[in-house]
Amino acid sequence: MPAIAIIGAQWGDEGKGKATDLLGTSVDYVVKFNGGNNAGHTVVITQPDGSTEKYALHLLPSGILTPGCTPVIGNGVVVDLAVLFEELEALEARGVDVSRLRISANAHVIADYNRTLDKVTERFLGSRRIGTTGRGIGPTYADKMNRIGIRVQDLFDEKILTQKVESVLELKNQILTKIYNRRAATVEATVEELLAFADRLRPMVCDTGLLLNEALDRGETVLLEAGQATLLDVDHGTYPFVTSSSATAGGACTGSGIPPRRLEQVIGIVKAYTTRVGEGPFPTELHDDAGEHLRKVGAEYGTTTGRPRRCGWYDAVIARYAARVNGVTDFVLTKLDVLTGLEQVPVCVAYDVGGVRHDEMPVNQSDFHHAVPIYEYLPGWWEDISGARTLADLPPNAQAYIKAVEEMSGARISAVGVGPSRDATVAIHDLI
Ligand code: GDP
Ligand code: IMO
Ligand code: MG
Repeated sequence: MPAIAIIGAQWGDEGKGKATDLLGTSVDYVVKFNGGNNAGHTVVITQPDGSTEKYALHLLPSGILTPGCTPVIGNGVVVDLAVLFEELEALEARGVDVSRLRISANAHVIADYNRTLDKVTERFLGSRRIGTTGRGIGPTYADKMNRIGIRVQDLFDEKILTQKVESVLELKNQILTKIYNRRAATVEATVEELLAFADRLRPMVCDTGLLLNEALDRGETVLLEAGQATLLDVDHGTYPFVTSSSATAGGACTGSGIPPRRLEQVIGIVKAYTTRVGEGPFPTELHDDAGEHLRKVGAEYGTTTGRPRRCGWYDAVIARYAARVNGVTDFVLTKLDVLTGLEQVPVCVAYDVGGVRHDEMPVNQSDFHHAVPIYEYLPGWWEDISGARTLADLPPNAQAYIKAVEEMSGARISAVGVGPSRDATVAIHDLI
């Protein structure tokens, strides 16, 4: 079997965790290939007795919840070791088998000085801040690119680790003390913080690229699960209001060591409306009661920071862009149930920028900031759709909404979410 990627098509929180869980039973490996504990995936699992169990995952791939599936943290991830073990312990306490987790020796680790720098930089930027999650993600990726990062494999050689920490702190302490007026970090405390986890980490660490390619050679299925999303990607997103990793299908390859030729399917997760956390442009954002309605009905509050998510209507320009950048083969349209009960459902089909119509993302950042949505208004529906499992179970106007959105968005819609749990899904085409 080829490798399959799941990517976010908007600004995150599209429901990637639920989609991974939905496919989990058909795959052998689930790989997180980018980001770190800035992600927040909520997975709701229905028990045999009908009750539901809710899990919030940040650093671990959602596939850890699927019995028999091997979860992998790839080389493209930045790992906060304390968070890793906290998450593992919390899952173990709930009876989840976490023993198969494998972690790339080349993944970078988030040290305390980078968590501090993330927060103080945001404070320093004031009104120009990005609205980061404050988890040290940006500074850790910057160190990786600067070739001064600390990797998982460095934790197994104290001498090398100490040398690397000494060298990086020469620079970091200048910044911390002279620019931000903070206390300097000490080599001893930093090394101690990182070494504290080394023994527990050792058995999980391997060449995950080799592991995954051998699995593919044996005909096993590998699912690559993105954190963040296309519009938060450092290259393809709304820079500088983005995260610092490659969250798109290309990143799935570089962040895992799986070559592009092996990636045959790319599943784009797209919400039936749009949300965004943090700062940055958002053409269809609603500042009125309609936005509040979406936030309330969709429970749009961040899994990681608890921040209210900014809400707006579906944006087909963005969906088309995500389809193109990622080579999306199938979309999963999530949270359609949240749109129930609206007289009309607006969908953005293009932008007006200073009187000029843009059917594709404007090239220039300022144009995107000034983009005014051009809406098409689709008729709404009132029926409860949470029990629908096939297209025919949906009211005609909901079916028409799916069809219209599919035609505008550049790839077929193969499944539709009608509720948070795995079974609350309308299946249209086989996903695997
Ligand atoms: P992720 O970061 O892409 O994994 O998404 P999050 O978990 O941060 O946010 C998606 C939220 O929507 C979670 O609370 C999910 O339980 C929930 N969710 C996912 N799909 C659906 C759906 O089809 N309908 C409803 N009502 N909720 C959904
Ligand atoms: P999932 O995987 C939504 C946003 C932050 C901020 C910007 C940069 O749950 O979809 P960072 O801490 O990464 O440097 O912050 O990116 N952001 C997310 N927004 N969902 C996420 O992850 C996000 N991860 C980062 O709010 O605007
Ligand atoms: Mg999320």
